[in-house]
Amino acid sequence: MMTVGIEKMRFATSNLYLDMTDLAHARGEDPNKYLLGIGQTEQAVVPPSQDAVTLAANAAEQLLTKQERAEIAEIIVATESGVDHSKSVAIYVQRLLELNRYARAIELKQACYSGTFGLMQARDYVSLHPDKKVLVIATDIARYGLNTSGEVTQGAGAVAMLVSANPQIAVINDDSQFMTADIMDFWRPVDHDKALVDGKYSANVYRDFFKEVWQRYQDTTGLTLTDFDAMVFHLPFTKMGLKALRDVLPETDEAHAASLLAAFEASRVYSKRVGNLYTGSLYLSLLSLLANDTQLRGGQRIGMFSYGSGAEGEFFSLTLAPTFKAGLDVLGMEKLLDQRQQLSVPAYEELFEGALWGSADQKAQSKQDPAHFVLTGVQNQQRQYRRQTRD
Ligand code: CAA
Repeated sequence: MMTVGIEKMRFATSNLYLDMTDLAHARGEDPNKYLLGIGQTEQAVVPPSQDAVTLAANAAEQLLTKQERAEIAEIIVATESGVDHSKSVAIYVQRLLELNRYARAIELKQACYSGTFGLMQARDYVSLHPDKKVLVIATDIARYGLNTSGEVTQGAGAVAMLVSANPQIAVINDDSQFMTADIMDFWRPVDHDKALVDGKYSANVYRDFFKEVWQRYQDTTGLTLTDFDAMVFHLPFTKMGLKALRDVLPETDEAHAASLLAAFEASRVYSKRVGNLYTGSLYLSLLSLLANDTQLRGGQRIGMFSYGSGAEGEFFSLTLAPTFKAGLDVLGMEKLLDQRQQLSVPAYEELFEGALWGSADQKAQSKQDPAHFVLTGVQNQQRQYRRQTRD
């Protein structure tokens, strides 16, 4: 039987970060609230020269061979940090990466959930057209504002995935359960550059959605927690996933619960250092699990919980391929995180306030940014992107 799934994955973030102990001191909080209570140690800080387009291009650039660029059938970009009400981020990415002219390109929006919709659309398309490959990118910048309770849960980055009939990393099983309900837990009106959120309520809705889709999943498939070797969560902050996991651990025995908790620790290594990537967050957790869990073996089943405020939730499973490590760039990932430059709180605040917003002509300093793709400013109400040669 033909199987479809994830062939390769790559990640991009900014080259700057803020230490959460520094932020706690600046905000008059006990550092353990951020480090343990929220579960975040570092946070990506975005310079004005990066946006959803450049982060997406920087992730996908590492992923595709020349031939794949020429042949890619669909370019799906999931984001809630879009740069235009009309034009999709996917078209900017198509030009910057010189992707197939005869491709479909689209941007998807539904808070942090839409990356999962993109992945499912890709899986369905490739199932019907097994000789085709689809590029799915989840790219976002999480902004709540200085001195807000959401500040410690900011972050940024993009995860790019290639979906094909050669699922070198994992097969996407056809077992999704999903649900949607109109809930005002988190939103961003069109004139806002920062999210509005009912924080505690959003965390409760997340847990309720998880419990409900997980129950439906079990009722429909006949599978239970004992059939899973790891549970991977959307991680707006890493304690959130831990809370959801703890809600269901009583469904299994002690030894299995301990191994699920160990897998969870592996899955949150990267998110602790980067923060929330909204659409990409679940997929950064998956990358982190694949890179950091030494117990993983081909054939194991991984549970995936996707949540997007507003609200939509989906639970599905992946079956790990024995070749999964070949689809990743673990060393590149570690290097990317280790080589970032640490910022002081005032330097972070200045960059946060200096984010490029609106359509007036303006320049973005990009000289210090080592990324391949940078935003250089806005000219004639059009965003200007540039490819830099680094090597
Ligand atoms: N040592 C250890 N732990 C401490 C501590 C200390 N000194 N002080 C406090 N804590 C613990 C608290 O007990 C609490 O843990 P529990 O929830 O397990 O009890 C934790 O630290 C956080 O403390 P508070 O609840 O008091 O924190 P807060 O009110 O300042 O804000 C927040 C927390 C609501 C998550 C806020 O950061 C926020 O609004 N974030 C944005 C919204 C969000 O991420 N929602 C998640 C679900 S929605 C979603 O998933 C979509 C999305 O991506 C946005």
